Amino acid sequence: MLKDKHIIVGITGGIAAFKTATLVRLLVKAGAEVQVVMTPNAREFITPVTLSTLSGRPVISEFFTANTGQWNSHVDLGLWADAMVVAPATASTIGKMANGVADNMLVTTYLSAKAPVFVAPAMDLDMMRHPSTVRNLELLRSYGNHIIEPAEGELASHLIGKGRMEEPENIVLVLDDFFARGQDLAGRRVVITAGPTVERIDPVRYISNFSSGKMGFALAEECAARGAQVTLVAGPVSLSTRHPAIERVDVESAEQMLQATLAAFGQADVAILCAAVADYRVDNVAQHKIKREGNEPPVLRLVPNPDIALATGQAKRPGQITVGFALETDNEQANALGKLQRKHLDMIVLNSLRDPQAGFQVDTNRVTIITADGRQTPYPLKNKREVAADVVDAIHQLILSQKNA
Ligand code: CTP
Repeated sequence: MLKDKHIIVGITGGIAAFKTATLVRLLVKAGAEVQVVMTPNAREFITPVTLSTLSGRPVISEFFTANTGQWNSHVDLGLWADAMVVAPATASTIGKMANGVADNMLVTTYLSAKAPVFVAPAMDLDMMRHPSTVRNLELLRSYGNHIIEPAEGELASHLIGKGRMEEPENIVLVLDDFFARGQDLAGRRVVITAGPTVERIDPVRYISNFSSGKMGFALAEECAARGAQVTLVAGPVSLSTRHPAIERVDVESAEQMLQATLAAFGQADVAILCAAVADYRVDNVAQHKIKREGNEPPVLRLVPNPDIALATGQAKRPGQITVGFALETDNEQANALGKLQRKHLDMIVLNSLRDPQAGFQVDTNRVTIITADGRQTPYPLKNKREVAADVVDAIHQLILSQKNA
């Protein structure tokens, strides 16, 4: 997807700048045309000769080329680009970008760029956590820039924490995704529930289920890659999100998931209810650890949890779409259709637990998509990201048909 794309790679003065050579090489290998723009400080970390050799174009870092006096037009460059990626982005450059401090070629080009901008921060963990960095990144997000979150790991300071620039291979993936998907959900807001819920018994014990959250997370990545702003309401899972347009809200119980989902659904176009919500919670959660010795075996009294899909379906305004999932062991089609109707859903994605390659904990899924008009479309076995693409295609069709109705 990167073939013939014009990409500005902005490099700032951080130790991770050495990795940007790999980024440039990978982009060129993928067929992109790359123009490197460096801040003066970046040249202390990696030489322009390396980068101009890898990109096949002279590197720009000053407003004027020293020997010829030729003016480097940031405006032309901004218009030339299909995307700009700043990697590594130091705290200082992020601050300048957020506040329009155009004192170098890189920030000036950024301010002129019409194309989508991707920012891959790299800095020490304490700088990353500082309120000014947090606020500046928030500002960049509010301008529609895509933040490629840094990874956790050992930093140049030898401290361990969040601040390592994302690996070049993953930055290329983010860009590739961006161009591959098209942007058919641009401007849409989607809320997705994912993973299990956890219902406490006492401070150390709980009731839950085997949901891994993989399907919901794949849906979140898919929607974000296609331009949507996503709120991912996730129960406790060991998964991470990659795309900058995903705002993740971590919750524990069904009650918390309900509140977070309804709060986000107010401004959303679509809700995808993918979580495996515990149907019951313990009525009388013990404040202290339940002891074994000398006590009768405890009796847990369970009370029903709220149905988040139903509550979202009931809160739906004209134009909003709700999509559910059904995991069934028998009488699949009829049960799924019943759930669709009961929960006021527009679409339900059915998977069968009888299929060993579908459902909890596995990377693959085989689904049938059922819409409110009764239409059923079976799909072959696919990995969950591909299933997510099918589900989002079907949602996009629903959006289009509502618009034409
Ligand atoms: N769901 C929900 N809140 C609940 C239970 C289910 O939001 N408390 C959603 C699920 O995320 C899914 C759909 O409803 O999209 C169907 O979930 P499922 O567990 O299959 O349905 P239940 O109504 O719990 O029916 P049952 O467990 O009896 O099959």
